[in-house]
Amino acid sequence: MERAVVQITLFGLLLALATTLPNKDNWDIYSFHINSTVTSRYATTVISSRMANRMDESKEIEFHVRIPKNAFISKFRMFIDGEVYDGVVKGKDKAQQQYTEAVSRGQSAGIVSSVGRTLEEFKTSVTVAAHKKVTFELTYEELLKRRLGKYELQIHARPMQPVKDFKIDVFIHEKSDINFIEVKGGLSTNVLANAITKTHADKKAWVYFYPTEDQQKTCDSCGEQGMNGDLVIVYDVKRDSSMGDIKTSAGYFVHHFAPSSLARISKNVVFVIDQSGSMHGKKMQQTRTALIHILNDLAEDDHFGLITFDSSIFHWKRELVQANNENLESAKTFSREIRERGSTDINGAVLEGARMLNAHPREGSVSILILLTDGDPNSGETNLEVIQSNVRHAIANKFPLYCLGFGFDVKFEFLEKMSLQNNGVARRIYEDSDAALQLKGFYEEVATPLLIDVTMTYNGGTNLTQTNFSQYYNGSEIVVAGQITDNNIETFTPQVVAISRSRKVTFSDTNSTVESTGTESDDHIQRVWAYLTVKQLLEKELLLSGPEKENVKKEALELSLKYSFVTPLTSMVVTKPQGEDTDVLLKPKEGEAAPDRRSSGGHGHVHGQGFYPPIMGQGGPRSGPSARRKYKSHPGVSVIHSYVHTGAKVTRIIQHDPDPKVLSFPAGVGPPPNYVLTQDNNFAMTQVSPTIVPERATNVPLSHRFLIKTENLSLPLCFDVTGDVCLKLLHHHNRELSVNGQLDSVTFGGFQRIVIHFKTDLSVEVATNEITVREGQSMSRHSGQTYFTNGRLTVIRRDQEIDVSSGDTRIVILIHVKDGEEFLWPVLRQQPSDNTEGILALKPAVYEEVQQTPSTKLKIKDLEIDVTRANAVDYSIVSPPTIDCWLMSAEFALQRSLDDFIATQL
Ligand SMILES: *[C@@H]1O[C@H](CO)[C@@H](O)[C@H](O)[C@H]1NC(C)=O
Ligand SMILES: *[C@@H]1O[C@H](CO)[C@@H](O)[C@H](O)[C@H]1NC(C)=O
Ligand SMILES: *[C@@H]1O[C@H](CO)[C@@H](O)[C@H](O)[C@H]1NC(C)=O
Ligand SMILES: *[C@@H]1O[C@H](CO)[C@@H](O)[C@H](O)[C@H]1NC(C)=O
Ligand SMILES: *[C@@H]1O[C@H](CO)[C@@H](O)[C@H](O)[C@H]1NC(C)=O
Ligand SMILES: *[C@@H]1O[C@H](CO)[C@@H](O)[C@H](O)[C@H]1NC(C)=O
Repeated sequence: MERAVVQITLFGLLLALATTLPNKDNWDIYSFHINSTVTSRYATTVISSRMANRMDESKEIEFHVRIPKNAFISKFRMFIDGEVYDGVVKGKDKAQQQYTEAVSRGQSAGIVSSVGRTLEEFKTSVTVAAHKKVTFELTYEELLKRRLGKYELQIHARPMQPVKDFKIDVFIHEKSDINFIEVKGGLSTNVLANAITKTHADKKAWVYFYPTEDQQKTCDSCGEQGMNGDLVIVYDVKRDSSMGDIKTSAGYFVHHFAPSSLARISKNVVFVIDQSGSMHGKKMQQTRTALIHILNDLAEDDHFGLITFDSSIFHWKRELVQANNENLESAKTFSREIRERGSTDINGAVLEGARMLNAHPREGSVSILILLTDGDPNSGETNLEVIQSNVRHAIANKFPLYCLGFGFDVKFEFLEKMSLQNNGVARRIYEDSDAALQLKGFYEEVATPLLIDVTMTYNGGTNLTQTNFSQYYNGSEIVVAGQITDNNIETFTPQVVAISRSRKVTFSDTNSTVESTGTESDDHIQRVWAYLTVKQLLEKELLLSGPEKENVKKEALELSLKYSFVTPLTSMVVTKPQGEDTDVLLKPKEGEAAPDRRSSGGHGHVHGQGFYPPIMGQGGPRSGPSARRKYKSHPGVSVIHSYVHTGAKVTRIIQHDPDPKVLSFPAGVGPPPNYVLTQDNNFAMTQVSPTIVPERATNVPLSHRFLIKTENLSLPLCFDVTGDVCLKLLHHHNRELSVNGQLDSVTFGGFQRIVIHFKTDLSVEVATNEITVREGQSMSRHSGQTYFTNGRLTVIRRDQEIDVSSGDTRIVILIHVKDGEEFLWPVLRQQPSDNTEGILALKPAVYEEVQQTPSTKLKIKDLEIDVTRANAVDYSIVSPPTIDCWLMSAEFALQRSLDDFIATQL
C-alpha cells in the first residue's frame, strides 16, 4: 500500500474540537499566511501554514483553523518533502466508508465542526519526519451577504503559536466604487491596530495585517500561544444604477440588486412572543428590552400587533393598531409586564398572529409576522407537520413569517422549514449578553421594506438561481446568477418588476449595467452561480420529500462534486504519505473482555465480538487495572491510547500516567478529547472536544469533560473524568430505579452503553444500535423503533433518541453521530421529586467570581480555587453548541469525591 487514505470529514455536522495545542519545543510554524480575494462579493480565502519538525524523530504535526460557517471548503492540500497530497471531494457516503475504515485502523482523520456563532473548525494532522517540513493549504469560498447596508468578511486567525512570518492579505475588487471600508474584530484593537494597513482606491481596496511576534503575544485574547481572534473587513459599494450590477464572464452572469433610493413601504407587523417557562430569567428580560427598543423604532405609519403565548394566548390588543405615541406607550407597558410561565403552544400563537394580519388589509402596505420562541411546541397542537401545514394555510403566501429561535433548545430545523415555507427566514438568537441586540438587529434587517413581489427576469438567461422574492428590505441585497444562453450578451436582457408602495415599478437599464468582465477562462462567476445554486438546493431539499427531495439532493451533490465544494452532502478525503511504521499488531487489554464495539452496519466498521483496533506490540507500562494501548497505523501515525479498567478510579490512571500534566490545562489550552456533562435545568452528558481520538502521539489518556450549568447565565463549571469509567447517572433508592452509563474512551464516542435497572429483575440496556431487555430469565433484543413497557417503566426508541420514563422520572437518551460513530447522551427531562443521586441529579452550580487577574478565582461554598476558561460541547441538546466554561477539578466542581459517582458495574 503506497498511501493510506485518511478522510477529512467536512460535513456540516455539529461536532466540536478540543483546542489542542502544539508543543512549541517539538515543531514550529515558520510561516502563516491568509490570503483573501473578494471579487464582486465572492470571497476566496487561502490559509497556508508552513511548519517544520525540529526534532530528531518524526512527529505528528497538526493543522487546525477556523472558517466561516457560510463558506464551502473547496481545496485542501499538503506539501511534504516535494510531494503534493491533494484532498478529493467525494459523496459523503463514499467518503464515510473510507473514513470509518481509516479510523478503525487507528488512523487520524480531520473533521469540521461548529464553533460559536459564525465559525467552523477544521483540523487535520500528518506525521512529518525528523527535520522535515510540511505546508498545509486550505481554500474556502463564500458569497458575502449584505446586511444592514454592509458586507462583512470574517477572518479568524489562530495559528497556535506566535509566528515570525505572519500575514493576512485581503484584496477586494468590485465592479462599482467601494463606498467605505473598515477593519473591525478583536484583532484590530489596541496593540495590533498599527499592524493593519488599509488602502482604498475607487473599485479596489487592500487590507494588510502583519503583526510582529511580540504583538502576537501581547494583544487582547493573545498569549504565549499567539493570536486568537478575528479580523472583520466591513465594506459597501456605491450603487449608481438602481438596476444594480450585472457581471458576466465565460457564459455566466451574476446580478446584484440593491436599490436604496426608494420610498419605504409602511408595514403591518405582528410580534408573537413566547413567554413559556423556559424563557425564564435572562432570556425573558432580554426579550422585553429588545421589544421596547423595537417598538421605539416603529414608524408612525406602521401598524402593529403584539401577542404573547404559553399554553394560552395573550393579546395586547386583538387587532393591529397604528404606531402612534399613545399606542406605543401602552404596548411598552404591556411588554415590561411580560412574565414567563406555562408551556408552548406555537401553533395557536402563530395562527392567531396570521389571523390578525389577515384581518387587517391595508392598501399600499406590507405585512410581516415575527415569531420568537425558545422551545418546542409542547402544548396545543404538537405535531410539527400539522403545525407547518396549518401555518402555511393561514398565511397562504400573503406575507413572510420570520422565526427567531432563542437558544439551543429549539428545534431549529422546524422553525427553519416553517419560515422557508412562508417566504421568510429563521435566525438563531444566541443566549448571550447581547441577545437583546441580536433581536433588535434582526428586526432592523426587515424594518424598512422597499419592494414587494420582486420578479427578476432574464431573457436569454437559463439555469437561474431564485428569481422571485416576496419582499426586499433596505440594506439587504438580492443576488441572482445564471447562465447566458449561448453566451450571447446581445440578446441577454435582464429586467426587474416589483411593487413599490402599491405602484408597479420596472427596472431595466441593460446598456450601462451588463458588462462582460474577465477573460473567458475566468470561472469566478460560474463559481458564484454554483455556490448560490447549491445553497438554494440545500434549502429546497429541506422543504421537499420523497423522490423530489432525492432529485434535488442529487442535483446538489453533483454540483458540489463538480465544483469541489465540501457541503453537507460531501466530504473531503485526504491522502497522506506512507509512514515508516507499517506493522499493525494487536495487544488486547489485560484482564478484560473485549470492548463492546458498536456494529452500526453499513459504516464499513469492523464488526463482531472481540474486535480491537490494531495495537502495536510495545504498549506502555501496565499496572493494576490500567493498561495502555499503542495503535500504530499504516501511514506512520503513531497512536497511543490509554484507559482504565471499568470501574477503576480515575486517580489511578493519573498516577500511572507518565505525563500527568496533560490532565491540568493551562490557560488557553484546550483539553484532550473528552466529554462533558452538562446541566440544563437537569443534567445531561455532553461530549467536548471531538478530536479524532486515537491520534495524539502523546500518552494522553482520553478524558471526558462534564459540565455543570448555573441557574443564571454565568459561565458553567466543567471538570474532566479520565477513562472509560462507569458512572452513576441516576440512582433512586425508594423506587429501585438506577441508571448507569459507561463512557467510551476507545474511539471518540460519549456513552457506549447505558443500563436502566428497575427493581432487581428488570434491566434495559441501551446501545446505539439496539436495546436489550432482561426480565427475570428472559431476554429480548430490539433494534429500530421500539416500544416497551411493563406498566411502570416505559422505553420508546424513536429515530435518534430513546425515551425512558418511570413515574415522575424521564430520561431521554440522545444518539449523536460524530464522524460516522454513534454515541449516547442522556438528558434528564423530568426530575423525580424525592431523593436521587448521580450525575444527572446534580444541582445547578452556584459560585462567585472573587478574582479576575492575574487568574480567575471562583468561590464555591467557602472555598476558593483558581480556574481556567475552557470550552465544551453541550450534547444535551440535539444540535450541540460549543460553550465556554470554568475548568476545575471534579472534586471541587462536585463538592465531593468523584468516587461517589463511579459505579462498580453497569
Ligand atoms: C496573496 O496572493 C497574492 C497574489 O497571488 C500574492 O501576491 C501575495 O503575496 C499573497 N500574500 C500572502 C500573504 O501570501
Ligand atoms: C435606505 O438606506 C440608505 C442607506 O443605506 C438610506 O440612505 C436611505 O434613506 C434608506 N431608505 C429608507 C427609505 O429608509
Ligand atoms: C443547465 O445546467 C446543466 C448542468 O450544469 C446543464 O446540463 C444544462 O445544459 C444547463 N441548461 C441549459 C439550458 O443551459
Ligand atoms: C415568479 O413570479 C412570476 C410573476 O409573479 C410568475 O409568473 C413566475 O411563475 C414565478 N416564478 C417562479 C419560479 O415562481
Ligand atoms: C448601448 O451600448 C452600445 C455600445 O456599448 C451603444 O452603441 C448604444 O448606443 C447604447 N444604447 C443606449 C440606449 O445607451
Ligand atoms: C449568578 O448568581 C450568582 C449567585 O446566585 C451571582 O453571584 C452571580 O453574580 C450571578 N451571575 C449573573 C450573571 O447574574
